[in-house]
Amino acid sequence: MYEVKCIGILTSGGDAPGMNAAIRAITRTAIFHGIAVKAIYRGFRGLITNEITDFKTQSVSNIIQQGGTILKTARCMEFKTPEGRKQAYDNMVAAGIDALVVLGGDGTFTGARIFGQEYSIPIVGVPCTIDNDLFGTDYTIGYDTALNTIIQCVDKIRDTANSHERLFFIEVMGRDAGFLALNSALASGAEAAIIPEIVTAVDQLEELIENGFRKSKNSSIVIVAESDITGGALGVAERLKKEHPEYDARVSILGHVQRGGSPTAADRILASRLGSAAIDALLDEQRSIMVGIVNDEIVYVPFNKAIKDEKELNRSVLDILRILSI
Ligand code: F6P
Repeated sequence: MYEVKCIGILTSGGDAPGMNAAIRAITRTAIFHGIAVKAIYRGFRGLITNEITDFKTQSVSNIIQQGGTILKTARCMEFKTPEGRKQAYDNMVAAGIDALVVLGGDGTFTGARIFGQEYSIPIVGVPCTIDNDLFGTDYTIGYDTALNTIIQCVDKIRDTANSHERLFFIEVMGRDAGFLALNSALASGAEAAIIPEIVTAVDQLEELIENGFRKSKNSSIVIVAESDITGGALGVAERLKKEHPEYDARVSILGHVQRGGSPTAADRILASRLGSAAIDALLDEQRSIMVGIVNDEIVYVPFNKAIKDEKELNRSVLDILRILSI
């Protein structure tokens, strides 16, 4: 049996609201079980540059409500090299760390999986990304807060769209996934969502025009997921200008405002549950897995499944959106 005596925690990749609540839950659950905790700053880079300090229960006081990550985050190219990982391993051993809990998305878990296999280290991942694009978990930490931030912004834009009787294309984040776009469209009463998942199957802009999206209204909101294929909100607006110059559209790109802010209750609860579950998983002798939540139950998902398998978007939401925007 592999007995874990000391864990290292790090956050890596894009930050997500609720990461701090998860760091708190991991730290306190570990200490509760007699496991020492070391904080690693700036993701995998901090493991290479040896930015490691002891964490006590007080180290995570007063952070449950804070956005961002107190551990800082980074995307580290050096960790992609065997030399970088060797340095990281040597520092880890010198610090007395025998297992890792890593918070992040697919890039983080890809690095963790290689490192864990190479040096036979137990590593558990906690899904944190506003994109909600990880297979094996219904929700990722940060998604709910980002959704709420988006709808607050859309509500404000709607005021001016209404006053000027204008069409707005509002771009939201999501990398290659349309979860934020689709569900923020439904939650904000938008006319439509243009999402990457169906970009090659359907001409969503043409469909929008054909459905007569301005038939019953003078102002319209269309949520557009960022995407290299459509060119995001700017790309869609550009196409509209060329193909349907009769429409006068405005573009609003919400950007990194979506990644900030105090986590919602749902994200704090999810982060507390998944953070605690990460330590339970280590005590359960799990390794190379992500903890997730499916139908309100904690699940363990192998890293390679979480990274490689595609999380399906619920397409019926698109139909509801269409019906509700008549
Ligand atoms: O993965 C989270 C995310 O916010 C994506 O939605 C977005 O495409 C990307 O990160 C932006 O990354 P950066 O902050 O490095 O520009």
